[in-house]
Amino acid sequence: MVKHVLRGSDFLSLSGLSGNELEDFVYESCRLKKEGTKGFRPLSNRSIGLLFEKPSTRTRVSFEVAILSLGGHPLVLQAEELQMRRGETIEDTAKVLSRYLDGLVVRTFGQKRLESIAASSDIPVINALSDECHPCQALADMLTILEYKGEFRQLELSYLGDGNNVTHSLMRAGTKLGMNVHIATPCGHEPMDSIVSECEEYCEISGGSLKLTDEPFEAAENADILYTDVWVSMGSSEDADEARSKFLPFQVNEKMLEVASDDVIVMHCLPAHRGEEITDDVIDGSHSVVWDQAENRLHAQIALLAMIYG
Ligand code: CP
Ligand code: NVA
Repeated sequence: MVKHVLRGSDFLSLSGLSGNELEDFVYESCRLKKEGTKGFRPLSNRSIGLLFEKPSTRTRVSFEVAILSLGGHPLVLQAEELQMRRGETIEDTAKVLSRYLDGLVVRTFGQKRLESIAASSDIPVINALSDECHPCQALADMLTILEYKGEFRQLELSYLGDGNNVTHSLMRAGTKLGMNVHIATPCGHEPMDSIVSECEEYCEISGGSLKLTDEPFEAAENADILYTDVWVSMGSSEDADEARSKFLPFQVNEKMLEVASDDVIVMHCLPAHRGEEITDDVIDGSHSVVWDQAENRLHAQIALLAMIYG
């Protein structure tokens, strides 16, 4: 059971969960969302640090609220306000923090840096976004898909844009759950080869599929889910003007919706750059589920914390 896998553990990516465990997680988060957490206080007398080296609105606030709703005490630790700014290493910081805290939610740069934080501390470390992946986002995305589509297997999940951290976690989740995942990116912006290979292995078990293309309309055809994210991620050195010309054909707009399935849902992890990767009429239109998706960050993280500390 997924509870046993997560209990007391780090959550650095989705790689450690089998398809069945991930599915189990999503159903459990759906149940907790419906039933609420009244009287359920697995974080009582526990303090959880939120260490952020990049900006955040959703992740930070939803984790703070999730921790409070489970009876815990959240402490926001912005990296620029810590001694790290004056050169203290992230490992020394993590070692010290783990003497005070019961868990650390971390938003950082490389996955290696995150792994090093986890190795330096003996409390659970949760990935709140790294350059490589955004697993908490994918948990909320899967909950949203379950709510709107009622199932996972054989859904056509199409992502258009940059092959980034959000794409990697989405691909992992989609292929583990038996979806047909299409990733359309401009040349040079494909997802990481190692993660593509990993997802191909998941497909063999789940019966799903993974297709990469540089043809956005081909990927969007008959899509049940159309997903996009910013063209230039936090910490990327990509020039915004250059990106615009390369990525414009991948914009999720009305034309893209026309080739998708009639009841397609449109997803975006947010923040959105309106008029770039997604148009106003689509993000504000009847197919968009982005606000429910953002709300589900809270519900999925309540479930995650409940399983780690339950
Ligand atoms: N989707 C997401 O992680 O949003 P924030 O950057 O606002 O946390
Ligand atoms: N890919 C984006 C996701 C933000 C939530 C970034 O890393 O900036």
